Amino acid sequence: MLKGKTVVIGISGGIAVYKVCDVVSRLKKLNANVHVIMTKSAKEFVAPLTFQSLSQQPVIEDMFDKVTKWDIEHIALAKAADIFLVAPATANIIGKIANGIADDMLSTTIMATKSPVLIAPAMNTNMYENPIVQNNMKKLEEYGYDFIEPDSGRLACGDKGIGKLASPEAIVENIKLKLLQNNFLKGKKVLVTAGPTKESLDPVRYLTNHSSGKMGYAIAEAAILKGADVTLISGPVNINKPIGLKNFIQINTANEMFEAVTDNYLEQDIIIKSAAVADYRPATFSNNKIKKSNNDMNLTLTRNEDILKWIGKHKKEHQTIVGFAAETNDILHNGQKKLVKKNVDLMVINDISKPYAGFGTDTNQITLIDIYGGKQSYPIMQKKELANIILDYIIKFNK
Ligand code: PMT
Repeated sequence: MLKGKTVVIGISGGIAVYKVCDVVSRLKKLNANVHVIMTKSAKEFVAPLTFQSLSQQPVIEDMFDKVTKWDIEHIALAKAADIFLVAPATANIIGKIANGIADDMLSTTIMATKSPVLIAPAMNTNMYENPIVQNNMKKLEEYGYDFIEPDSGRLACGDKGIGKLASPEAIVENIKLKLLQNNFLKGKKVLVTAGPTKESLDPVRYLTNHSSGKMGYAIAEAAILKGADVTLISGPVNINKPIGLKNFIQINTANEMFEAVTDNYLEQDIIIKSAAVADYRPATFSNNKIKKSNNDMNLTLTRNEDILKWIGKHKKEHQTIVGFAAETNDILHNGQKKLVKKNVDLMVINDISKPYAGFGTDTNQITLIDIYGGKQSYPIMQKKELANIILDYIIKFNK
């Protein structure tokens, strides 16, 4: 995914240095070229050999170690970088960059680079909240440097608060976003629904389905990488929100999803309904836990609004509406019927009877059909790849 991209990582001294090992390893797995520069204090926490082994490149340590080479090295790395990450970034290195101090290999190389610079601070809460540090960060933001906000929690010094280095996963997602974002959907607003709905019967029981949200979240992430402003409306899932998301709305029930979609649909250019919405909910909700008896029990269900159908009915000229059809039999025929009945532009049909497709899996197998009679089937693929295929189809469709 990051083949041919060069990430230069500047590591300054803090306990979170060890987490950057994971960042390097994740970047290598994505085929990026990774070069590491360590400050003197960073080497106190993790030996350069660790980063050398993980990055498969010599670690740049000190300007004056290799007097004959340093001049070439810092300029060469500054030029080679497609992106520069500083992690963990201490108050000291942030202060140096903000005030134009270049007195070691890391600060010198940052000063010389024209690549985007992502800074992931990690420090004690009081230091992070110190107005001097905050002003330095503000100043750097004004110069175009980007920050990955630290997490809150228990810090290595024992204090609780903001200042933990962002997770390696979040750091890599931010790098991916910076390196891979393109303009195919720039200026477009995309609304994606994902995951299941949960329809409660009483305080402890509910009706739901097996949707994991993987398909919808993959679409939201792919749309962000294509430069869109994405609103994600999601049922309860166990997936992190995509980095760069403009608007996230958490819902539980189909009624809540209906409210969220109808409140937000007007300004959208593309609406993609990959959520698995319950068609029915319990007709009544019992405030108290329903007691069991010795007899069987009948449950009365009432219809939920068909949200996609509602959007199809209220669709605006500039909008492209995409539905999903989860089918087990007569796949194409049923998908075609839904395309017409719900008045959508494009239907993504998945055969959920297959073990590698549909609910919960990382892969899916889809056929796309559109209102102009276009039809395209794809082999089993990762949901992340299919997300791009679906969006590319929409982009071509709108040309
Ligand atoms: O989340 P994953 O584990 O990754 O699984 C992905 C998925 C299987 C959930 C996804 O690929 C998928 O097929 N989503 C649609 C599931 C579904 O509800 O299909 P349907 O054929 O019942 O509904 C057709 C369309 O109408 C869907 O776009 C659905 O969002 C929409 N709908 C359905 C009912 C309802 N009350 N309102 C709706 O808007």
